Amino acid sequence: MKRLRVGIIGCGNIYPMHAISIKTNPNLELVSLCDIKQDRVLQAVTKYGGTPYTDYIEMFKHEKLDAVHICTPHYLHAPMTISAASYGIHVLTEKPMSIQVNDAKSMIEACERHQVRLGVIFQNRYNKGARFLKDRLESGKLGKIYAAKCSVTWDRSDAYYMKSDWKGTWDKEGGGAVIDQAIHTLDLMRWFVNEQIDYIDASIANRVHEKIDVEDTAEGMIKFKNGVIGSFHVINYYTTDSPITIELHCEHGFVKYTDGLTEITYHDTSKEVVGADPREKLDYGDVKQYWGVSHVKQINQFYEALQKQLPIEIDGKEALITQQIVNAIYESGKKHQKIFF
Ligand SMILES: NC(=O)c1ccc[n+]([C@@H]2O[C@H](COP(=O)([O-])OP(=O)(O)OC[C@H]3O[C@@H](n4cnc5c(N)ncnc54)[C@H](O)[C@@H]3O)[C@@H](O)[C@H]2O)c1
Repeated sequence: MKRLRVGIIGCGNIYPMHAISIKTNPNLELVSLCDIKQDRVLQAVTKYGGTPYTDYIEMFKHEKLDAVHICTPHYLHAPMTISAASYGIHVLTEKPMSIQVNDAKSMIEACERHQVRLGVIFQNRYNKGARFLKDRLESGKLGKIYAAKCSVTWDRSDAYYMKSDWKGTWDKEGGGAVIDQAIHTLDLMRWFVNEQIDYIDASIANRVHEKIDVEDTAEGMIKFKNGVIGSFHVINYYTTDSPITIELHCEHGFVKYTDGLTEITYHDTSKEVVGADPREKLDYGDVKQYWGVSHVKQINQFYEALQKQLPIEIDGKEALITQQIVNAIYESGKKHQKIFF
């Protein structure tokens, strides 16, 4: 099989997860990396190989890429995707898909028009415990879901925001705790409930941070069309990153999902517990370990889908729903009213 030519845009915190995933897939060749900060891209190519660029359009023009990974600030995901599509390049972008729902729709439209494919990273869906729970829900073993709730209480101080030239801003990050941190957990909760949304009713606030405009707090509920309420509590002014939790009250049992560990207690008192496999390690060098091995799994699925003409599990249309949730939380919080879907 012909190796696909792959590039990466953005060489900040997250790109090593992409670079390592590409390098460990024998069907792929990491041919080029791009960052507007020259020192970053030079350091990246020294580590992972490939040709450095500081202008992504130049990279698109010269590298005959099959696919590009977008690891840049949120507001750039849409224009970079639309541009890549116009060069006939498939796109795998980091979460969130974009800042606004309309931009996400334009991304889908551009990729369809140019007949390229679009994937969006929500790697936590590939955590072993999450897959197991999804399987138990789909098999019917847990019966109906009656209610869901989730909690994200993390630590993102003013100092964290001050280190970044885009985080903590409405125009470049598109929000705060919801669009950047809680988006993964909201995406998982929605994926577990697997039902169309009726409306969202939420409040948002900045209660603690002095240096940013965006929210550090969100609370509210997603009302699904089958009547299930998924409630959420999000803060990023805790003093540490507490494990994220999702609870599901189901017809045949009770589920607790804690940072990738699924614990099911059935009404007959039997239990099932599934978490990460400790043997499943990847050497990320000096990259944060807590992002785990799930990027590799999602990236492999994306390329398998490209090469074998299979569905991309988290494609643009799937990610659009999570984008709509995020934007509805903001709209509801700002207008103090329910947002109907
Ligand atoms: N999936 C996850 O768990 C996860 C974790 C962390 C970050 N992310 C996502 O990854 C993306 C990047 O986050 P990060 O923390 O790595 O940010 P970062 O600020 O560390 O890195 C972004 C990089 O993009 C570069 N850049 C900015 N404008 C550019 C342009 N026009 N052309 C080329 N490069 C440009 C910056 O110079 C910077 O090096 C965000 O969407 C973020 O939400 C996802």
